[in-house]
Amino acid sequence: MMKAAAPELRRVVVLGTGGTIAGRAASAGDNIGYTAGEVDVANLLTGIDAPPGVTLVAEQVAQLDSKDMSFDVWRQLARRCIHWLDAPDVVGIVITHGTDTLEETAFFLHSVLSAQKPVVLTCAMRPATALAPDGPQNVRDAIVVAATGGSRGVTVVCAGTVHSAVDVQKVHTYRLDAFASGDAGAVGYVEEGAVRSVRDWPAAPSRLVPEAVTGDAVWPRVEIVMSHAGASGSIIDALMAQSTVDAAGPLRGLVLAATGNGTLHHAIEAAASRARAAGIEICRATRCVDGHILPRGDDRFPDAGGLSPVKARIALMLALMRTLPPAA
Ligand code: SIN
Repeated sequence: MMKAAAPELRRVVVLGTGGTIAGRAASAGDNIGYTAGEVDVANLLTGIDAPPGVTLVAEQVAQLDSKDMSFDVWRQLARRCIHWLDAPDVVGIVITHGTDTLEETAFFLHSVLSAQKPVVLTCAMRPATALAPDGPQNVRDAIVVAATGGSRGVTVVCAGTVHSAVDVQKVHTYRLDAFASGDAGAVGYVEEGAVRSVRDWPAAPSRLVPEAVTGDAVWPRVEIVMSHAGASGSIIDALMAQSTVDAAGPLRGLVLAATGNGTLHHAIEAAASRARAAGIEICRATRCVDGHILPRGDDRFPDAGGLSPVKARIALMLALMRTLPPAA
């Protein structure tokens, strides 16, 4: 008698980094007075069925409140994603993460990975100990996206909605559906274990990961300075004066969180011009949640298009890394 062929092994790897999704509070009714990053990622998978034919693998990469996200954790995450994406039987990766800097980690990974397979970040607004935690459904939805053929690139899944890493932003302090994708809109929705796409999935271009990202080099220091009513250039001048003695290393770049269509208070513009003359890379990103900066003929500094200031900072850091020698 012929033996039936062994079913093809398909794995989804779930990497844990902490966050409210792994948070514990003293009482079930407390949705804000908890400690983030306490429950192991393996425990977050308890009671969650994998889609048919899929095996889940849990790996703890970090255990922190994402407000404290560090370059070391990003470096470690990039290494683990590269490792697992290379395995032929791994169909996708899920990353459990705090909501507070989720969009930054998503954009960072989008910027460094050649993610032809899906890398799906997910989170929760209520701790694991809550009366009705939102984490388990979000994890289940993220696993569905990671295991669904046709999904690719780095996305974020929260409250049944799939967002692209480029467009996603946390827009609410408390609501379970805390993320939005601005003008671009969601990529799709997860409904009863199935993905419904409403626009093209984000392109997942082949990238050359700078050796500086995965190696041990110190990452270039880029700061964000906001332009606002009554602004002065003194923060920029202070950064310039102090950066040679600061533990974070010399200042290499500045993102100016600009008003409206990329406009700057005249004092910020003057100080940024002095910084540029001293060799600092300058970029403008808009404070507006929606829209892109539309270039004008008289712009003094380049703009980051539709990227938010925190994402523009990552883009500038990576651009600077690509021009750095690996050991710099
Ligand atoms: C965090 O970002 O780690 C805490 C807040 C959250 O996950 O909602």
